[in-house]
Amino acid sequence: MIETGGDRGEVVLRVMPRLADINANGHIFGGWVLSQMDIAGGIVAHRLAQGPVATVAIESMKFITPILLGDIVSVYAREERRGRTSIAIRIDVVATRGIAQQQIELTSGVYTFVALDANHRPRPLPQEGAV
Ligand SMILES: CC(C)(COP(=O)(O)OP(=O)(O)OC[C@H]1O[C@@H](n2cnc3c(N)ncnc32)[C@H](O)[C@@H]1OP(=O)(O)O)[C@@H](O)C(=O)NCCC(=O)NCCS
Repeated sequence: MIETGGDRGEVVLRVMPRLADINANGHIFGGWVLSQMDIAGGIVAHRLAQGPVATVAIESMKFITPILLGDIVSVYAREERRGRTSIAIRIDVVATRGIAQQQIELTSGVYTFVALDANHRPRPLPQEGAV
C-alpha cells in the first residue's frame, strides 16, 4: 500500500541521519538530503517509466530548515509534469522532531528523470494511465 501525505504525494522514504552525516555546523550535510531525494524520486520515476531512469536535472532546490541529528526524515514525492521521455518529480522533505513529534519542512525540489532504453538512451514513456 502506498502511504500518502496529501498534497505532498506519497511517503517514499523514512530515514534517520547518522553521526557521519553531520557537517561542521552540527547540522546534516546538504549532500545527504540531496541523495535521499534522488533515491526517492528515482523509485517513483522508475515505477512511472516502467523501467530504468537516470536523473538528468535538479531544479529549484530550496533548503528551508537545517536537519538535526535525531530527526526522522520523511521524503515525499509526486509527479509534477511529464514529457515524451522525461518525468519531473516534486520532492518535499519533512522532519518529525522531538517528543512532541513536531513536523518541520526541511527541503523541497524538483528532480527530472529520463526513461532509458537498453543503450542508455532516452526512451518514450509508457502511455499515461498504463500504470
Ligand atoms: C539522461 C540522458 C540519457 C539524456 O540524454 P540527452 O541526449 O540529453 O537526451 P535529450 O536531449 O533527448 O533529452 C531527453 C529528455 O530530457 C529532458 N532534459 C534534458 N536536459 C534537461 C534539463 N537540464 N532539465 C530538464 N529536462 C531535461 C529533455 O527535455 C527530454 O525530455 P522530453 O523527451 O520529455 O521532452 C543523458 O543526458 C545522460 O546519460 N546523462 C547522465 C545521467 C546520469 O548519469 N545521471 C546521474 C545518475 S542516475
